[in-house]
Amino acid sequence: LCQLDEDKPLSGYTALVTAGPTHEPVDPVRYLANRSSGTQGYAIATALAQAGATVTLVSGPTTLPDPPGVTTIRVETARDMLDACQQALPCDIAICAAAVADWHVAPSAQKIKKTADSTPPVLHLVPNPDILATLSQPSPNRPRLVIGFAAETEHVLAHATAKRLRKGCDWMVANDVSPATGIMGGRENEIILIDNAGSAHWPRLDKLQVAHRLVARIAAFLHPAQA
Ligand code: CTP
Ligand code: CA
Repeated sequence: LCQLDEDKPLSGYTALVTAGPTHEPVDPVRYLANRSSGTQGYAIATALAQAGATVTLVSGPTTLPDPPGVTTIRVETARDMLDACQQALPCDIAICAAAVADWHVAPSAQKIKKTADSTPPVLHLVPNPDILATLSQPSPNRPRLVIGFAAETEHVLAHATAKRLRKGCDWMVANDVSPATGIMGGRENEIILIDNAGSAHWPRLDKLQVAHRLVARIAAFLHPAQA
């Protein structure tokens, strides 16, 4: 093998990454969202690009700069995120690291005001599309490798294993995001990688190292002879 292949094991491959939260507007000044800094997803997009892949990052609102060498598409809502992902197909690898809001509301055109009698407004929640499940569905456009994330606060392996099957993705990256772990919003991550053969518990690593290790495993999966 030439040096180039070893440095760029994903050259010629296309990858789609979702990252960050989605914001679902309630009115012009309020939104529903999940907690997500986008750090892990941006690190994965960066690592894929460094490995030679052509990467599209579909990102919800974050404070992070666009990763170098990556086509970054900024979206706000889950529905916009799904649209942008579908525009990016076909691709070889899809990694859904976004913390997608599970619901949206029909936004009020004007700021919702507190009423004189303090009756709180009632939000009617409507389910959002599931981007990971949609990308995982059997179709001629289905990426060869679809990877999801499962951020759980208890029964991590059991919940994430069930989630992998429910979503139809190939691998699930599970982590414990209980506040005591400090993972949410932190620099490090500690994951369990689940595939059809079982699970592997990785040590606690910097999120960039998690990204590089995941990319190495993707490269080994796509061309095992070179691994
Ligand atoms: N996901 C997605 N679209 C959604 C919801 C989730 O693409 N509308 C993806 C996330 O990016 C992640 C995976 O699905 O890769 C798991 O997300 P999670 O919120 O843990 O799963 P849910 O099925 O929404 O389950 P829960 O009830 O635990 O929130
Ligand atoms: Ca969810």
